[in-house]
Amino acid sequence: MKSKDFGETFYWGAAISAAQTESAALANGKGISIWDEFCEAQKGFFKSKFRIKSKHHLNYSSDFYVHYKTDIDLLKSMGFKHFRFSIAWSRILPEGETINQQGIAFYQEVIQYCIDCEIEPWVTLYHWDLPAALEKKGGWTNRAILDWFALYADVCVRHFSKVKHWMVLNEPSVFVGAGYFFGIHAPGKKGFYNFFKAMHHANLCIGYIYRIIKNINPDLHVGSTFSFTYVESIDAQPKNLKAAKTANLLINRLFFEPIIGLGYPKEDLKILYQIEKHIQAGDVELMKTNLDFIGVQTYTREMFKHNALNPFLKIKQVPAQHRTNELTAMNWEIFPPSIYHVLKMIDNYQTGIPMVITENGIALMDEVENGVVRDAQRIEYFKNHLKQVKRAKSEGMDIRGYFAWSLMDNFEWAEGYHPRFGLVHIDFETKERTLKNSGHWFRSFLKTDESQD
Ligand code: GAL
Repeated sequence: MKSKDFGETFYWGAAISAAQTESAALANGKGISIWDEFCEAQKGFFKSKFRIKSKHHLNYSSDFYVHYKTDIDLLKSMGFKHFRFSIAWSRILPEGETINQQGIAFYQEVIQYCIDCEIEPWVTLYHWDLPAALEKKGGWTNRAILDWFALYADVCVRHFSKVKHWMVLNEPSVFVGAGYFFGIHAPGKKGFYNFFKAMHHANLCIGYIYRIIKNINPDLHVGSTFSFTYVESIDAQPKNLKAAKTANLLINRLFFEPIIGLGYPKEDLKILYQIEKHIQAGDVELMKTNLDFIGVQTYTREMFKHNALNPFLKIKQVPAQHRTNELTAMNWEIFPPSIYHVLKMIDNYQTGIPMVITENGIALMDEVENGVVRDAQRIEYFKNHLKQVKRAKSEGMDIRGYFAWSLMDNFEWAEGYHPRFGLVHIDFETKERTLKNSGHWFRSFLKTDESQD
């Protein structure tokens, strides 16, 4: 397999997000985000009470805020021409209202440095770090989020006019599910009521913000990213097949179908009728968005079975560690065909919208030994997943790019710093950067004509 097999115009990139890499949580006028607050509020001595494993805190991450030039240099040295990162909303509008010029200046510098290095910036507006001041007013459960987001997007698009590629949201199903239903991510809210409201507002935001950006400049390339997972039943028993169907609806359909104009899949899951009280006239049309690209983020396969004890959904996930030894440091199954199946599932909707894989990668417990990180398993993961992408492309699916998650090790949300996703190793004490063997592999893959099978 050669990188050229994917076509001359294929976008090759690596991705990060602000909250996971920047540190500098309060530097130069930045306001507090819900993730800053979530990390701060860890109380108690008992591990079960920690919100984040080992009580890790996002403020001691990779210091991208200081080392961004080194990181962009490393990205370039691997042969990538595209860089996906996000903007911290609370650096731009600390309380959600007034502009912080120092925050604007920071991202203008990052963007200019990318351009000087001939790297195309791909910017995500929202990668989960809402200003805490807006969460106090209800955050994603308050429909006013549309106005707050509109102001934020307007400020960003006008000040960062050199950016051509924008993404509205990062994985709404994950930040709404984990943050407003299970309460395991910031802001730690729970229950169906919060979930349905936050979900509907997130879906509306995609359509609303897409249109705002296009109004400012119709030539901008605007998408949004979605989490997709290949879902299967544990076996062929009808009740388990039904459970897998429900899981697939929740994981893959619920946050995607409204955007491509199919509305909420209420017919297939009656509890979704509860969303109706949050839907206003015109909402269905507003959610329907002819995005310029669908950001596909996918990592693994999940399996489900029937569970009579689960009152509403009747499903139970069968954890990967109960069924395979092919596991990442997140205990996610390594199953390369999953990316092919996900691409095919999206392709089957026949939306006519191109796909860009905006995240795919593997967490390991990497260590530096004599200046080298031997992450052979990561090289295998990328090779095998890219072969599946190539397979999908050869069947005619419209896939325009691939971004590795992640450029560097970072703060993995509730899992803290132990699972490492980077092509670049970070020593979180000294902030020293070491290109892993997988980074060297990408360098050969992207910069030479030799096959990298
Ligand atoms: C995605 C998320 C990233 C990263 C990755 C690995 O859901 O967008 O921020 O954490 O998963 O878990």
